[in-house]
Amino acid sequence: MLYSIFIVVAIKIYRYSEESEKKPYVQTYNLNLKECGPMILDALIHIKNTQDPTLTFRRSCREGICGSCAMNISGSNTLACIKKTTDAIDGGSIAIYPLPHMHVVRDLVPDLTHFYQQHKSVKPWLEPSPDAPRYNGKEENRHKLDGLYECILCACCSTSCPSYWWSEGGDGGYLGPAVLLQAFRWISDSRDSIQRERLANISSDNLKIYKCHTILNCTRVCPKGLNPALAIAKMKLMLAH
Ligand SMILES: *[C@@H]1O[C@H](CO)[C@@H](O)[C@H](O)[C@H]1NC(C)=O
Ligand SMILES: *[C@@H]1O[C@H](CO)[C@@H](O)[C@H](O)[C@H]1NC(C)=O
Ligand SMILES: *[C@@H]1O[C@H](CO)[C@@H](O)[C@H](O)[C@H]1NC(C)=O
Ligand code: SF4
Ligand code: SF4
Ligand code: FES
Repeated sequence: MLYSIFIVVAIKIYRYSEESEKKPYVQTYNLNLKECGPMILDALIHIKNTQDPTLTFRRSCREGICGSCAMNISGSNTLACIKKTTDAIDGGSIAIYPLPHMHVVRDLVPDLTHFYQQHKSVKPWLEPSPDAPRYNGKEENRHKLDGLYECILCACCSTSCPSYWWSEGGDGGYLGPAVLLQAFRWISDSRDSIQRERLANISSDNLKIYKCHTILNCTRVCPKGLNPALAIAKMKLMLAH
């Protein structure tokens, strides 16, 4: 039996530093996939360790839990740590870009400041009423959070949403699928006491929720298999009543 001990693939990576005068460019690294672990993140770490220590990316948990390693891999946003290199090969190479339409700090690291501010604006915490039960009570109440609490705020969905790309930032900006799914997570919590206020706020100007035109790119791309478009649709329905 013949074993291949080499699978050499050209990994094409977006390079940029906001501290440099240089325009963004794409650098190609040839990598023998047999020398490193199976995931894109393993490949990136291997390149950094053996070829180019200046290559910059974010990662922490390496198991799809922290959301740090979100990037655009072979044309689609996903988490580098759970994307197999062999599944990412496209025409003999793998193209790795930062999350699209975000300001890039360096290489694969986007600036998520605005995204996090938007998250903060929906008060992503429980506001219990004084007499609220400490636990969710009925099991069915707990199940209302399934498909919502698992969101790791990786921003894969928002940065694949054309409405999010073209919406200006600031207070009036479109919140995008990730933050709206988070808002729905708190609206759906039976212990929360400000559901009305939460709903009123995300609809308070026409951009916040109604910018979603249900193109569904968000749901297609979520690496955790969640459905932000459905969460948005459910909130629109609640607002219509
Ligand atoms: C990923 O990056 C490629 C190359 O820049 C781009 O053509 C593509 O639209 C991006 N994918 C998404 C989902 O934005
Ligand atoms: C969004 O989905 C449409 C329809 O499938 C597709 O043509 C388009 O490339 C997608 N855009 C992104 C950014 O993923
Ligand atoms: C709703 O908006 C008001 C006015 O901006 C703000 O004071 C309040 O904290 C917001 N509440 C929520 C739940 O977003
Ligand atoms: S909904 Fe999915 S893609 Fe969007 S931020 Fe949450 S985990 Fe990431
Ligand atoms: S369904 Fe809405 S939030 Fe999702 S990608 Fe389309 S416009 Fe954006
Ligand atoms: S390193 Fe944490 S999600 Fe990939």
